[in-house]
Amino acid sequence: MSLIAIGCDHVGFELKIRIIDHLQSQGHSIKDFGTHSTERTDYPIFGKAVANAVASRECDKGILICGTGVGISIAANKVHGIRAVVCSEPYSALLSRQHNDTNILAFGSRVVGADLAVMIVDAWLSGEFEGGRHKNRVDNIE
Ligand code: RB5
Repeated sequence: MSLIAIGCDHVGFELKIRIIDHLQSQGHSIKDFGTHSTERTDYPIFGKAVANAVASRECDKGILICGTGVGISIAANKVHGIRAVVCSEPYSALLSRQHNDTNILAFGSRVVGADLAVMIVDAWLSGEFEGGRHKNRVDNIE
């Protein structure tokens, strides 16, 4: 089981609660970087906090939620060593682990429903990086 950093903005807050419950029921540990309510805030704060926790290896992986998953993933990808993917279906989530060694998953609470979000999370966490030819490409990004 993993230690997973999680963060969201105000738009992602309610879905984050559902995802935390699901992850804990699967035996994962969570470090919640906020936000902690639906009061309006700014997604870069939480994208950066989760990205720093993953890049420093304080946490194994990260999950980020905003309205679309776009802004918060862009913010996370500014941190060196972070490969954040924004997904609205499980196939890309799984392949992003297997081929791209993504270390943060982002999605949008205005894009995916809660049940689909859980499926995306499960697909992403089930994927293992395949290395080989994919390692050269990921190394090239770095
Ligand atoms: C907030 O209104 C919204 O812009 C944010 O949640 C996110 O979708 C940005 O990418």
